[in-house]
Amino acid sequence: MENQINIFDTTLRDGEQSPGFSMNKSEKLRMALQLERLNVDVMEAGFPIASDGDYETVKEIGKKIKGSTVAALARTATLDIERAASALEHAARPRIHTFIATSDIHMKFKLKKSREEVIEAAARAVELACSYYDDVEFSAEDASRSDPEFLYEIFETVIDAGANVINVPDTVGYALPWEYGRLIANIRKNVPNIDKAVISVHCHNDLGLAVANSLEAIRNGAQQVECTINGIGERAGNASLEELVMAIATRQNDFRLSTNIKTEEICASSRLLAEITGHGVQPNKAIVGANAFAHEAGIHQHGVLNNPLTYEIMTPESVGLSCNRIVLGKHSGRFALGKKLESLGYKLNKDELNQVYIRFTTLADEKKVVDENDLRMLLSEVIEYKKVSGDSTVSQA
Ligand code: KIV
Ligand code: ZN
Repeated sequence: MENQINIFDTTLRDGEQSPGFSMNKSEKLRMALQLERLNVDVMEAGFPIASDGDYETVKEIGKKIKGSTVAALARTATLDIERAASALEHAARPRIHTFIATSDIHMKFKLKKSREEVIEAAARAVELACSYYDDVEFSAEDASRSDPEFLYEIFETVIDAGANVINVPDTVGYALPWEYGRLIANIRKNVPNIDKAVISVHCHNDLGLAVANSLEAIRNGAQQVECTINGIGERAGNASLEELVMAIATRQNDFRLSTNIKTEEICASSRLLAEITGHGVQPNKAIVGANAFAHEAGIHQHGVLNNPLTYEIMTPESVGLSCNRIVLGKHSGRFALGKKLESLGYKLNKDELNQVYIRFTTLADEKKVVDENDLRMLLSEVIEYKKVSGDSTVSQA
């Protein structure tokens, strides 16, 4: 579809590359099956030359995954490409993803190669990759800090060599949304054969701008975004899949674009990753944090209980949660307290609710969250008090 953005998930490669997030073969396979349920267009399964374990894992994922393209990463070296090609031999939809750095700082201090040598290596790698499979992606590492004229030249060369996806990474998370958007627009304008390739973006989050940069790139013509579940990845991470997808879905009238993601699988994917890696997300993390659909403030609770749209821009169900969470704490009011007691089966008159509420606020000042056991305890205190004074009417439904 024309207006569709392809989601390239790199949780199992860039995400796994970050300290403390490594996964073994069976964990990666479990995660890959969940990514398939989430319906990502492409999953990058690993970097086969990096280790025998990664090679075997990519191979296994290639055997099992039928619904998504499986990509394997390779530098431009012949051995890397051959190893990636071999790891993908059973994949239903294989993609080799080859990359080389194009910024002056990387070419001089890391690669120790001239521009001519880098272009030649890129073209050779893409040609070799195309001799194995039709689907070949080329990334210009550190593209956002590269000379744009050099970028246009290398992209034109690799597209001529057969690459059908060209990726423009903001490798060090340095770009600002408007300049990154302009870079994508200029690539479209200045690479003569760009209509033969999909433009992909890959943003890191060092300045907290990975999602904003990716969205601005989409507005300027990028058709594929690379991202990870929970935004994990090198250093401050990659653009978060759930934030990108829900921004596009929630603001559809603005973007006029869609993705193939089954958004109801988002929370399950986030939780599985947290369970496997042992790293949960912070409570206030957009979309998947424990507080993303939770309300404690009285005014908000009143609004949400009457109509969720007052304070929720998407439904919890749309990301796979069964309902929002009304959290009782010191900011909550009588309305939410009464509703909670009702849901526990207690119908109180106004005076009784007031008495429970007075005790509730004292407790809430001491405790961060007042739970169901606390409420039952408060209720029994009020019932006891009313019995003694002879006017208990608290009824349990
Ligand atoms: O950040 C980056 O530049 C990468 C490339 C390998 C795509 O991860
Ligand atoms: Zn990266």
